[in-house]
Amino acid sequence: MNIRPLTNTILVVDDMPDNIDVLVGILKDSYNIKVATNGQAALAIAASKSSPDLILLDVAMPGMDGYEVCRILKEDVKTRRIPVIFVTAKSDISDESMGFAIGAEDYITKPVSTPIVRARVATHLALYDQRKTLEDEVKRRTEEIEETRLEIIRRLGRAAEYRDNETGMHVIRMSNYCSLIARALGMSAEEEELILNATPMHDVGKIGIPDSVLLKPGRLDAEERKIMELHCLYGTKIIGEHTSPLLKAAGVIAWEHHERWDGKGYPRGLSGKDIYLYARITAVADVFDALTSKRPYKEPWPADRAVKLLEEERGHQFDPALVPLFIEMLPAVLEIRERFND
Ligand SMILES: [Fe+2]
Ligand SMILES: [Fe+2]
Repeated sequence: MNIRPLTNTILVVDDMPDNIDVLVGILKDSYNIKVATNGQAALAIAASKSSPDLILLDVAMPGMDGYEVCRILKEDVKTRRIPVIFVTAKSDISDESMGFAIGAEDYITKPVSTPIVRARVATHLALYDQRKTLEDEVKRRTEEIEETRLEIIRRLGRAAEYRDNETGMHVIRMSNYCSLIARALGMSAEEEELILNATPMHDVGKIGIPDSVLLKPGRLDAEERKIMELHCLYGTKIIGEHTSPLLKAAGVIAWEHHERWDGKGYPRGLSGKDIYLYARITAVADVFDALTSKRPYKEPWPADRAVKLLEEERGHQFDPALVPLFIEMLPAVLEIRERFND
């Protein structure tokens, strides 16, 4: 009696019951065995939750032949990694190359020999396991790198706060408002996420603004305003030039978030849709949060007063399409404001 746990499952596919019996006889003591007598049934088992770890696939079957089954398996992301070993009476070269061409791992010719079947199955299961382990490891590390990258980006966004009178919550609130606008615009979940992660860096350039200007309690004079406006340039320089969509977006947002729809903004006086959409979104969210937050020089405005200003500035400071969208989302906006209160 075999007392080893049968951890691997082999799917045996053949239209002839006698052939199935032979293979099952060879393998049943070492593996869990599933059986299919035609291509359709084999595909259904392969795609099911308890998919096999390896498939022994007869080539010549009525209806869908083994090549067709293999091709479909290798085209489907859910089943493409399962190793396929063809079992065939035809041993001519063209058949073999055809099998490999469509992604089969190996070949066994009928009549099968017990040691060959055992050896090939064991080899390909081991390779499959090894590949799975490697892929899992790569996936884990990739996730780790991605998480680290996001964390650094978040921290970079927060760095500017230490130079400013804004609290850490400002960038969290405004980036969440931005992602609400993105959703209301019908952007994909992916793009929404990108905006959520890129917008917190909009003011990172404030790191380069001297205290005398940045922390000045009163109004800035013309000279000081010019210095203050440099935070857009510094921000885009700090973020740098990248091919990563996230950092690319962050760079443009830092550069353009003070541009105005009517062209009276800075640093370049761009207008309308010449301003990058993400920066137009950022402008609405950033101003709304600044107005509704407490600052050393002012009390927080009530939401309805801030909304009124957005409406007045619709088509002047702000993209006219974005203001109504933002106002429509107001219940969700206020919820975010509540949740990330200073
Ligand atoms: Fe700014
Ligand atoms: Fe801001």
